Amino acid sequence: MLDFASLARRGLFLFDAETAHGMSVAALKSGLLPSCRISPDPRLAQTVAGLSFANPLGMAAGYDKNAEVPDALLSLGFGFAEIGTLTPKPQSGNPKPRIFRLVDDMAVINRLGFNNEGHDAAYARLSARSGKSGLVGVNIGANKDAEDRIADYVAGIRRFYPVASYFTANISSPNTPGLRDLQARESLAALLSAVLAARQEEALRAGRRIPVFLKIAPDLTEEGMDDIAEVALAHDLDGLIVSNTTLARDGLSDPVVAKEAGGLSGKPLFDKSTAVLARMRKRVGRDLAIIGVGGVSSAETALEKIRAGADLVQLYSCMVYEGPGLPARIVRGLSGLIDREEVGNIRELRDSRLDYWLSAKV
Ligand code: FNR
Repeated sequence: MLDFASLARRGLFLFDAETAHGMSVAALKSGLLPSCRISPDPRLAQTVAGLSFANPLGMAAGYDKNAEVPDALLSLGFGFAEIGTLTPKPQSGNPKPRIFRLVDDMAVINRLGFNNEGHDAAYARLSARSGKSGLVGVNIGANKDAEDRIADYVAGIRRFYPVASYFTANISSPNTPGLRDLQARESLAALLSAVLAARQEEALRAGRRIPVFLKIAPDLTEEGMDDIAEVALAHDLDGLIVSNTTLARDGLSDPVVAKEAGGLSGKPLFDKSTAVLARMRKRVGRDLAIIGVGGVSSAETALEKIRAGADLVQLYSCMVYEGPGLPARIVRGLSGLIDREEVGNIRELRDSRLDYWLSAKV
């Protein structure tokens, strides 16, 4: 017997991926999807970068680019939701089609190119929800035609300061030409200096310090990871998000769709992004926060990110295949897994398989 959510999902698969995505956002907006009541489990509660998370599972950026449904996402069971990537000016992104499903691999390739309605539209929505509980992070980027990319990130910090629970500076989308160059040592130092100086000024003005995370690619050399770790530690950064989509195409079963340009996400990204997560944990030490993302599809894979060094976890692609019940299933599943482990809080399992992931060949 198929339940309503499975039937709805099969129906969505009759449409191209971007149309189906729009329909799922509309369904969340309509309030017709049942919200998932999960009783809070104190063993899942985390304080990371000064923020209190009811559970460690968040919605990754890119699903709710324009802040249309953060509260509906939270009501699915997520402990936090990240909106964006937002650029100062609206932009339409790359020509369609630009999202592709790889159903047999539980994967997605996208080359959206930061299509979004711009700062003003998202700001209006977020300020309309201000005062509501629930952690909503704001993921910021640069317009494709920006003359000064760093200025676009600074504009994001200033614009969203009153409404963001945290910020993510996304320098790892493969779909804005040259954006990933911001990960190089000197460019990254310049970006972080400017972004964190803006945060400092706004914090003084608002009397509230908002954490800033940096979202990195999984396609980094060991030297590239060294550079990012050193620059991150030399600045007042709160944490890393590891990782964005990959340019690699290893192990895909659909050779035709595999040839599409863009970033690959979902199950085939799990090993690579988890190995990079562990390598970054080793480099930055115990104290810097890390959010692990890439291929999370179950409570087991969410916990494995934590065991590899993550404080928090996010997902996106596998929800396309597993449906809106996935976050609640994972959060409940995590409670079950820690019953077995007999720990007081899931954070005690952090780093417990760091060595395994450090030696993983990916
Ligand atoms: C993304 N992702 C993404 N990330 C980001 O920082 N800003 C963005 O705008 C987007 N947009 C986006 C669109 C689509 C269609 C997908 C599938 C993904 C990347 C996402 O947040 C995440 O880092 C990766 O997808 C890896 O996680 P999953 O999808 O394997 O769980």
